[in-house]
Amino acid sequence: MTRTLRSARWFEPDDLRGFGHRSRLMQMGYSKEDWQGRPVIAILNTWSDINPCHAHFRQRVEDVKRGVLQAGGFPIELPALSLSENFVKPTTMLYRNLLAMETEELLRSHPVDGAVLMGGCDKTTPGLLLGAISMDLPCLFLPAGPMLRGNLRGEVLGSGADTWKYWDDRRAGKIGLEEWQGVEAGIARSYGHCMTMGTAATMTALADALGLCLTGASSIPAADANHIRMAAACGRRAVEMVNEDLRPSHVLSRASFDNALNVAMAMGCSTNAIIHLIALSRRAGFPLTLDDFHAAGHRVPVLANIRPSGERYLMEDFFYAGGLKALMAQMGDLLDGTAATVTGQTLGAEIAGAETYLPDVIRSLDNPVSSEPAMAVLRGNLAPQGGVIKPSAADPRLLNHRGPALVFDSYAEMKARIDDPSLGVTADTVLIMRGAGPQGGPGMPEWGMLPIPKHLLEQGVRDMVRISDARMSGTSYGACILHVSPEAHVGGPLALVQTGDIIVVDARAGRIDMDVPEDELARRRANWSVPAAKAGRGYGWVYAQHILQADQGCDFDFLETGFGASAPEPDI
Ligand code: FES
Ligand code: MG
Repeated sequence: MTRTLRSARWFEPDDLRGFGHRSRLMQMGYSKEDWQGRPVIAILNTWSDINPCHAHFRQRVEDVKRGVLQAGGFPIELPALSLSENFVKPTTMLYRNLLAMETEELLRSHPVDGAVLMGGCDKTTPGLLLGAISMDLPCLFLPAGPMLRGNLRGEVLGSGADTWKYWDDRRAGKIGLEEWQGVEAGIARSYGHCMTMGTAATMTALADALGLCLTGASSIPAADANHIRMAAACGRRAVEMVNEDLRPSHVLSRASFDNALNVAMAMGCSTNAIIHLIALSRRAGFPLTLDDFHAAGHRVPVLANIRPSGERYLMEDFFYAGGLKALMAQMGDLLDGTAATVTGQTLGAEIAGAETYLPDVIRSLDNPVSSEPAMAVLRGNLAPQGGVIKPSAADPRLLNHRGPALVFDSYAEMKARIDDPSLGVTADTVLIMRGAGPQGGPGMPEWGMLPIPKHLLEQGVRDMVRISDARMSGTSYGACILHVSPEAHVGGPLALVQTGDIIVVDARAGRIDMDVPEDELARRRANWSVPAAKAGRGYGWVYAQHILQADQGCDFDFLETGFGASAPEPDI
């Protein structure tokens, strides 16, 4: 090693500050053999007592430390915002950027040379990566891994997807309390993130496809001993990366973002991936747009037969089938093998010879899971800056639809009224909810899979056209048009639609319109007033000042690379 380590600025100088740093390390029982000349590896751990997806991180971090020590480094665990998807309200999305800021500033302010980023539950992956890309120290991502398959009396249960399915069955009177409680007890059986193709499985796969993981690591189930060994390998590799000065800016390229985009489609990705990948690409300086997603959806078929796009399988099956390496090998020319990875090898070298063991789980290009794309972008007078739909997880009958709107101004109103029989809802009604976007939610909660009214469930209706400026869980399904931009709260045309207006959706043509004359829309706009701000102080206030719309990735404007001068290294 000829380069001076960044951490040496803290530990080496024979001055008052250097004295303070050394004596405080010694206070913890370390001696100079522990740190001198050794790469200091920050381990950003998003463990908490209330994040079931990361419950194993408390032990797993010890395996990372073991790896760092084996390779001659000095591990330092730094706890970071845990962002437990299920418990944080109104939505973890409100705090993704807070984790991104925390990640960047933890790395900037501490005496560290490189990092292992431990995440997996939905927003933790983009949060950690956004911050790490901006700070640009040598680092790699340690994915939490999916939990085991769920089980109810021998039937497989999938995260989210079966929650919605059995809840509809319960509301329709098809199952009783006892069976429902069986689902409750059996759907989440181990630590690890959701094991359907939700946001977690999508985003960890995209981190992997971007080249930021030990290739294929994202597919290893959390409870598999391979995961423990992978954690130690991450520790070792982080030390080597510091020695090689291999940084995110050396790994990421146009090619790596195109690869991630194509892998997203082949995985049948969560719609949330659009927002996160756009934000990541803009931070890295290779901006993707909604049009890139639309084009990729029509170019790349869904190959991963994982629910909700697929019918049966879950992430545990995906691992046994060969995992992400096998899927990427199936993609052939749709993947640029010259892209770099944190391993030091190209992506092509990493996946060379990867076999598919279960061909029904990981399909080939000539036998895709769905003839519909994983993702389509819709534009029109209802969504000038776009909305998105997941055609592969919708009833194909609804992809071309015309019906009367039923509008709810808020989630609370929708929840209170949706089952009211006097609303006259039919299976052709288009359910619309607004006020749930980045500012309106705030934070774009996952409210976009509006419930089917009870009387229609009882008649067997299981899908309807639903439109909102919200997001939906990646484990959700149905003809849900999401992320409508600009959102209603900032005066997007979604704010102008009224109950009874005819809504026209043509997903294949990429259109979403309300059949309302221009002069009538102008009249409604003149009567529209800006809603009250959601928060008058604190983080919520900062958020509202700086959050970008969904089509731009919901980053804070001041965090984007192009905002201004880069943030400097601290004076020591
Ligand atoms: Fe953590 Fe789904 S709740 S990944
Ligand atoms: Mg989720």
